[in-house]
This record gives sequence, structure tokens and C-alpha cells, in this order.
Amino acid sequence: MSELPFTIEPLGQHDRSGFSCGRDPLDHYFERQVSQDIRRRITACYVAVCNASNQVAGFYTLSAAQISVTQLPDRFKKNLPRYPSVPAVRIGRLAIDIKFQGQGLGSTLLINAIYRSIRADIAAYAVIVDAKDDAAIAFYRHHGFLDLNAQERTLVVPLAQFAKAFSLFDA
Ligand SMILES: CC(C)(COP(=O)(O)OP(=O)(O)OC[C@H]1O[C@@H](n2cnc3c(N)ncnc32)[C@H](O)[C@@H]1OP(=O)(O)O)[C@@H](O)C(=O)NCCC(=O)NCCS
Repeated sequence: MSELPFTIEPLGQHDRSGFSCGRDPLDHYFERQVSQDIRRRITACYVAVCNASNQVAGFYTLSAAQISVTQLPDRFKKNLPRYPSVPAVRIGRLAIDIKFQGQGLGSTLLINAIYRSIRADIAAYAVIVDAKDDAAIAFYRHHGFLDLNAQERTLVVPLAQFAKAFSLFDA
């Protein structure tokens, strides 16, 4: 089997200075702030490293979150207990360096984040994402995310719909 082109691993001593996804606030956050948020346990961060060049090609962040049940799309509410809120995992940021965009890496990191959320020892009902602009909203909708009611630019997808597919990998 041929070697995969990227390794996905927790952010460590990687060189972050050259990373550019085309959105300055995301680049700035990744270069200057993410380490501090990790130290303070505000977020976890995972990077995709290009095996050929050792460059960071993309990253995403994960944090614990909570969703008010009233904000969920109606179709998700049916089988839930009568709790006011449900636990979730937030993908706060996800970005691919311009040099690596359009090659499927954004999808790969999104699936990796969902897989990690399903495999975690602490249960979460859904993944939510904070989309930074209309293009990001379109990216997440393309992957089956729906808008959270009354919370602009936040989208949601329940994890149960992926759990069965991922259980095949774990069998
Ligand atoms: C949005 C982003 C993560 C996409 O990453 P990417 O590696 O270029 O995307 P991929 O090559 O994995 O695309 C996978 C699929 O998503 C689709 N897609 C990509 N960007 C899209 C967009 N803006 N709108 C709709 N669909 C999109 C692709 O057409 C592709 O579809 P297919 O699998 O049916 O062929 C990347 O462009 C990026 O980092 N942008 C700047 C930062 C940003 O907006 N981050 C998200 C919010 S925090």
C-alpha cells in the first residue's frame, strides 16, 4: 500500500510561521495564539503535516461545547430526552494552507475531527462549527451540516449518523 501524503497529529513543535490559508485572522490565530489556548485547556489543535516537505498543510481546533435543544433543527429534536441542552464538540477553526487547498484535505481534516469526537471517552451528541464567512458556511453545508437556529454562522451535525460508518474501521 502506498504511504499517505499527510500525517495528522496533535500540534507540537511544528513551524507555524509560513502557514497561510488566505484568511488573516485564522493565520494570525494559528501563528500567535493557539499554543496559549492549548496551555490553558481552552482548545486542542491537530495539524496535517505534508510528509514530503514537512510543512503544516492544515489544522483544526476542538473544544467542549453545549447546544440548547431549542437551537437544534426540528428533525434532530424528535428522539432526544427532555433536557434543556446536549453536549457537543466545537470545531472552532479549520483551515488549509493555500498551497494545499482543493486536494481533499479540508474534507479529510473534517472527517478526522468527527472521527476523533466519536472515539472520545466523553460522549457528545453533535459537532458544531463556527463558520467565519459565507464560503466556509458553503463548505460545511456541502458536508451535511445544518444551521443552528438563532445562532448565525454556527452549523451542526449529529454524531450518530457517522458512528455506524466509523464502526466498520474499528471492527
Ligand atoms: C474551506 C477550506 C477548509 C476547504 O478546504 P479544501 O482542502 O480546499 O477543500 P477540499 O479540497 O477538501 O474540498 C472538499 C469538498 O468540499 C467542496 N468545497 C470546498 N470548498 C468549498 C466551499 N467554499 N463551498 C462549497 N463547497 C466547497 C469541494 O468542492 C469538495 O467537494 P467534493 O468532495 O464533492 O468534490 C479551505 O478552503 C480553507 O482553509 N479556507 C480558508 C479558511 C476557512 O474558511 N476555514 C473554514 C472556517 S473556520
